[in-house]
Amino acid sequence: MSDPRIEQTRVLLRQVARSPLGKEQIETLRSVLRFHEHRYYVLHDPLIADPEYDLLYKELERLEKEDPALIRPDSPTQRVARELTAEFPTVKHLVPMLSLENSYNADDLLDFDRKAWEQTGLETIEYCVEPKFDGGSISLIYENDRLTRGATRGDGIEGDDVTPNVRQIRSLPLHAPLSDHGIQQLEIRGEVLMDKEKFRQYNESLMEEGQPPLANPRNAASGTLRLKDPTQVAKRNLEAIVYHISYFTLLPGKSTPQSLQTHEGSIELLWNLGFRSPQGEKRVFKGIQAVIDYCHAFEAERDALPYEIDGMVIKVNELSLQEKMGMTSHHPRWAIAFKFKARQATTKLLSVDFQVGRTGAVTPVAKLEPVAIGGVTVSSISIHNEEYIREKDLRLGDEVLIERAGDVIPQIVKSLPDARSGKEKKIVFPRQCPVCQHALHKEEAEAVWRCGNWKCPAQSVERMIHFVSKDAMDIRGLGEANIRKFYEAGLLNDIPGIYELNYEKIGAMEGFGKKSVEKLQQSIHASKKQPLHRLLYGLGIRFVGETTAKTLARQITHLLDLKEKSLEELQQLEDIGPKVGGSIHQFFQEASNIRLLERLGSLGLTLQQEAKTKTTDGSLSGKTFLFTGTLPTLKRSEAEALAEEKGGQILSGVSAKLNYLVVGEDAGSKLEKAKKINTIKILNEAEFLELIGKPASS
Ligand code: IVH
Repeated sequence: MSDPRIEQTRVLLRQVARSPLGKEQIETLRSVLRFHEHRYYVLHDPLIADPEYDLLYKELERLEKEDPALIRPDSPTQRVARELTAEFPTVKHLVPMLSLENSYNADDLLDFDRKAWEQTGLETIEYCVEPKFDGGSISLIYENDRLTRGATRGDGIEGDDVTPNVRQIRSLPLHAPLSDHGIQQLEIRGEVLMDKEKFRQYNESLMEEGQPPLANPRNAASGTLRLKDPTQVAKRNLEAIVYHISYFTLLPGKSTPQSLQTHEGSIELLWNLGFRSPQGEKRVFKGIQAVIDYCHAFEAERDALPYEIDGMVIKVNELSLQEKMGMTSHHPRWAIAFKFKARQATTKLLSVDFQVGRTGAVTPVAKLEPVAIGGVTVSSISIHNEEYIREKDLRLGDEVLIERAGDVIPQIVKSLPDARSGKEKKIVFPRQCPVCQHALHKEEAEAVWRCGNWKCPAQSVERMIHFVSKDAMDIRGLGEANIRKFYEAGLLNDIPGIYELNYEKIGAMEGFGKKSVEKLQQSIHASKKQPLHRLLYGLGIRFVGETTAKTLARQITHLLDLKEKSLEELQQLEDIGPKVGGSIHQFFQEASNIRLLERLGSLGLTLQQEAKTKTTDGSLSGKTFLFTGTLPTLKRSEAEALAEEKGGQILSGVSAKLNYLVVGEDAGSKLEKAKKINTIKILNEAEFLELIGKPASS
């Protein structure tokens, strides 16, 4: 039987098309909107189109505006935060928030099982196993069907009341029908998470602004929960998963719901109340061996999940047995965490190198005593800037805790001051460029020191490396190593020089045969015809990333058009704000840059926008794509361009946000990951061409 709210949605939408809704429909309207929020944010399976949802939402807003007395705190319109939070009041949890005992291997779990036999007098115990979500813990109170409080863990007894922020988490219902189950008040526990894809995007935006990225999604989630501005919290798209009922009271005359006899039942109840709970991930097993197997199997799939987990939690399933086993002051005796292989390790900070990038930014890089984390040896890590070093109080000789969270580049989490011997030394940031000795400068609002010498050898080399890179001019055969070699040999000084290389001299260098020189020559020559946006990106103008370069290129006919535009005119272009506009303006006002572009033009590079022969029909608008492995006929860049031409978006990793993974030969781990997420469609090249309406001719 289908949910009545589906039919109600149809009725409301039909009516709105003809005339505004009336006051008497406001509760139906709210209930329908809550239903679709749940489908979208909890089940990730919407049943209506976004504009249809928006239409109904606007009707509710209108009705509430016309008669504010109709507003209820659990109305879908009431997530919107209106004020900054002055401070977070301290509040007492109804029941203390305990921690978990940790285990690391099968023997630890066998011990746990044995203790459970002793405490219960049973020989076979039923366990419920679920992931250990790696975020920030929260405690939520619902009363009379409404969310009334959200608090952080704090010291376990008292935490910070972060209700305005918690209300921004769209997967947490503001209204949950507790009364249908006879419940009056409910305190639940869960974890606030930032999913891996959102975290990647968030870190990218931090780095674009010149700020250091965060070490892991956990810090991003906990940090977000403490922001003073709930509108900022809303933008970060946090999620919440709840896994424990710590306290409840019943409505008069009602008895405890049947489901609350087991932990599994409480997970189901939470799910039925509209929460995201580990409903799909939890498993119940009799005896510990099957539990151990499930934990190991889950660990193998860890990377394929859209969010981070750091282990599994094993809980005695019968709540009456849980009560019998009780708790210590630190953790319940009826539960244990099985921790996965650590992605953190401690090591020694040996020295710091200062590297100069293509924009002159000087980045300190910590050299570490090599240490293995999750199968990879880490021996150096960027420590971003002077402020970061100060904030983390890093010193030479320090023991540091480092982390490699999933696909994220390793980061230093913190230094360990307790392990200091007193011989550690301050890290002194240079005031002169370590490569050309030019004085470094720092703009007031920035954390980065820069070398302002345009001719600084380090910058010249880095600019060329960026220019030839895969996403820019994609000159195969002229990678970082060759650029450095040619530069050192005096054969290459700047970007235009790439097109004036002396191939005879290169041929005489060690390691270059006739064939490889020919290939190099060909690929350099072919790059002259790269589309304008690649050249624009390749120039390495600050803040002009790949996406900006594409939008910008679409809006000009000739690269030098940008020279003629005033700052105001630049800012009127699509997607160009003051920061990016200012940087582009500065670049095109610099005579040496114009000379460089003119030289490139006379060397035969495309400075002109290609005439648009293909039209963008947008038929795949909103769909996301990722290409992996070698495709039989298309180059990766060609395939991406075809998808983009139809309005598709290219993602950089496999996540639940991905719609299509197009696979070629040697597809590797991305394919394995994608197979585990059943919403991703896996296509080969022929199927992809069919999808975009360009079937391969047979
Ligand atoms: S049960 C009394 N279940 O891990 C109930 N905790 O390291 C104790 N956590 O403080 C918590 N996922 O914040 C439980 N599925 C899960 C969990 C989980 C993550 C967190 C929780 C706890 C911490 C202990």
